[in-house]
Amino acid sequence: MTAAIILDTLERAGDKCADPAPLVYRRLFELRPDFEALFVMDSDGGVRGSMLATCFNAILGVLDDSPSQRVIISSSRFSHGGYGLADADLDLMFTAIRDTFRDLLGPDWTPEAEAAWAGLLAEIAAIT
Ligand code: HEM
Repeated sequence: MTAAIILDTLERAGDKCADPAPLVYRRLFELRPDFEALFVMDSDGGVRGSMLATCFNAILGVLDDSPSQRVIISSSRFSHGGYGLADADLDLMFTAIRDTFRDLLGPDWTPEAEAAWAGLLAEIAAIT
């Protein structure tokens, strides 16, 4: 049920915006302005696009109870330590995705969607 609600929000947001990457990163940098400088070498947005795709796959994997996607989230916490990120910083990417989709859906964002995403973010935060 939760998965269906989240998949519905992903689909509706996709209808409204074919490439949410600029919006997601704008939100991430609102939440943490200091993160923007980390992507200074990514002049064509390729790394940001690929990182976001990895995050979407991770979301789908968590919804699907995929162990391998949980490992990817866990290992990204470790690998991003090299950029000076704390484990919990990684969760902000998923928060930025949720916030972006909430904005895109506007009045179509339901209390059920809010609750389903809160549960998903908590589940991801618990993957260490
Ligand atoms: C606030 C959260 C995050 C920040 C600030 C961040 C930052 C970065 C930075 C600075 C890079 C390298 C950029 C470069 O080489 O120019 C990177 C690459 C990458 N990140 Fe993140 N990251 C975050 C969250 C995540 C999460 C949650 C995942 C996966 C679930 C992830 C997966 C990746 C992957 C796969 C790459 C390599 C992309 C490529 O080179 O194709 N990141 N990230």
